[in-house]
Amino acid sequence: MPTVLITGANRGLGLGFVSQYAGEGWQVIATCRSPEKAESLKRLAGENSQVNIVQMDVSDHDSVDACAALLSDQSIDLVVNNAGIASNDFAHQMLGSFDFENWENILRTNTLGPVKVSEAFLPNVKASAQKKIAVVSSTVGSLTDMNAYPVYPYATSKAALNKGMRMMAEQLRDDGVSIICLCPGHAKTDMGMMAEGASVEVTDAVYGMRNEIADLTMATSGSFRRYNGEAIPW
Ligand SMILES: NC(=O)c1ccc[n+]([C@@H]2O[C@H](COP(=O)([O-])OP(=O)(O)OC[C@H]3O[C@@H](n4cnc5c(N)ncnc54)[C@H](OP(=O)(O)O)[C@@H]3O)[C@@H](O)[C@H]2O)c1
Repeated sequence: MPTVLITGANRGLGLGFVSQYAGEGWQVIATCRSPEKAESLKRLAGENSQVNIVQMDVSDHDSVDACAALLSDQSIDLVVNNAGIASNDFAHQMLGSFDFENWENILRTNTLGPVKVSEAFLPNVKASAQKKIAVVSSTVGSLTDMNAYPVYPYATSKAALNKGMRMMAEQLRDDGVSIICLCPGHAKTDMGMMAEGASVEVTDAVYGMRNEIADLTMATSGSFRRYNGEAIPW
């Protein structure tokens, strides 16, 4: 069976990815920054022998390098860059009262994190059969969609992530590595619940994104799609 590595696998959409891929028999490398506190994930791993939990903090490059070194002899068919943060301190994310330290922290996790993870595990992906990388981005990062969630740090972190992954998709075309940016919709997770209107069940968001990943080919590499299959304008 293929192998998937998932970041931020201990709760929310990440835990949903672990559950669904394990349910289909995949080998799952479930990474999270605090395995000792990851009760739901540990329970899932206890019930599914193909789920292995590994520590990785995507904002700490030494941690990413250590995880990549530990897994250096494994081929990884799919990397799901899911870990991300937002802040519910809206007052300091608006023009006139920016908290730039908070903004840098969000960029480090949401933009540099997935790019660093994708770079670190590229040898594992290239050595696999499927050779795929997915990032859980957001419609909020679209340059043309000005209606969704007008919070500068989070929105810019996803816009920059999209650009980075789109560039990577072009650069890795000759290597046969395909890349997709995804939006889960406004899903009912801890993060989703920070803003009003979360309506998408985690299972549906993850199921839809998994379908998009399964359908990903070299011809569609470098695309940006919602969990329900709609193309999202950059
Ligand atoms: N929910 C939505 O409506 C929505 C919409 C669009 C996009 N997204 C994106 O979907 C992804 C998953 O979000 P979610 O809704 O599942 O949020 P969530 O329930 O808040 O979960 C976030 C996950 O990311 C992990 N994480 C945060 N910083 C990390 C780091 N430095 N290293 C490793 N793991 C880290 C968290 O781990 P800890 O438990 O250790 O904090 C947690 O597992 C994010 O990229 C988010 O931006 C969500």
